[in-house]
Amino acid sequence: MKTRIGSVAFVVTLCFIPNLIFAQSKFKYVGAKACMPCHLTPKSGAAYKIWQGNAHSKAFATLATPAAQEIAKKKGIADPQKDEKCMKCHDTAFGVAAAQLAPTFKAGEGVGCEVCHGPGSEYKAMQVMKDIDTGKIKGETVGLVKPDEKACVKCHNAESPTFKAFNFAEASKKIAHPTPKQ
Ligand code: HEC
Ligand code: HEC
Ligand code: HEC
Ligand code: HEC
Repeated sequence: MKTRIGSVAFVVTLCFIPNLIFAQSKFKYVGAKACMPCHLTPKSGAAYKIWQGNAHSKAFATLATPAAQEIAKKKGIADPQKDEKCMKCHDTAFGVAAAQLAPTFKAGEGVGCEVCHGPGSEYKAMQVMKDIDTGKIKGETVGLVKPDEKACVKCHNAESPTFKAFNFAEASKKIAHPTPKQ
């Protein structure tokens, strides 16, 4: 029985992959500042404030520090803030086609909301957000991603020149920004 359900789920997934790939490209990055107005107050969970206070919002700035310059020099990289070898993990939407960037998006925000939650152009409207919250709309259909451990280890891995170890449970606590229950 278990394998039967498994294979049905597999076939269903296969049918959706082309749709997902197609849909993905129409969602644009709007930048973390576009999330701020609704995710700033304590009542909302203050995700924006919490993010501003943690390492992810500083990831781009970090690439300008002497420590970063030192790492870059050893690898023959002239400017870490311009090089894909560093920027792919230290900023949002680096290397993404211009057509997928909304006018509000500005490079240099560090590891922004949309790195983990997906490009926000289609889900950031109040009514859409509320409908996702109440289950009327499935987040995936408008580009909203539910981040899990896999999302983190895209960057928290041995390819990071400063990598030591990554513990998902501990790391998640450090960046947690839950919405308070009403
Ligand atoms: C116009 C207001 C508004 C904007 C702008 C907005 N949100 Fe939301 N968001 C909400 C509301 C309202 C909810 C539902 C209550 C809650 O969970 O905070 C929500 C819920 C969420 C959730 C939880 C969804 C779920 O599964 O229940 C995530 C994640 C989220 N927002 C991320 C973002 C990100 C990232 C951005 C920027 C790209 C953004 N939001 C922009 C209002 C907004
Ligand atoms: C796009 C790449 C990227 C993704 C995805 C990402 N991170 Fe990070 N993370 C970074 C970078 C870069 C830093 C270091 C920033 C700095 O110090 O300037 C960092 C730092 C951190 C830190 C603080 C340093 C530490 O180890 O204590 C925590 C905690 C963390 N990340 C947790 C997470 C979790 C949990 C996820 C997944 C939900 C995640 N990260 C996803 C790139 C990423
Ligand atoms: C695969 C993703 C990835 C790449 C590529 C990457 N970083 Fe990072 N970087 C991280 C993560 C994740 C952290 C958080 C600490 C850790 O676990 O390594 C980090 C942290 C840092 C720090 C802070 C170290 C500390 O101890 O606080 C510096 C400096 C840094 N990176 C520089 C660079 C430079 C320079 C490059 C390009 C040569 C680069 N990184 C490439 C993911 C990456
Ligand atoms: C490094 C990855 C990462 C970044 C950056 C990030 N988030 Fe999240 N966010 C998560 C994870 C992980 C969860 C928990 C998902 C779950 O519970 O399934 C979450 C949950 C949320 C929730 C729902 C909380 C709840 O209680 O249901 C909201 C709202 C949210 N994030 C908004 C934001 C906003 C706004 C930003 C930018 C200011 C942001 N996030 C940046 C990883 C991230």
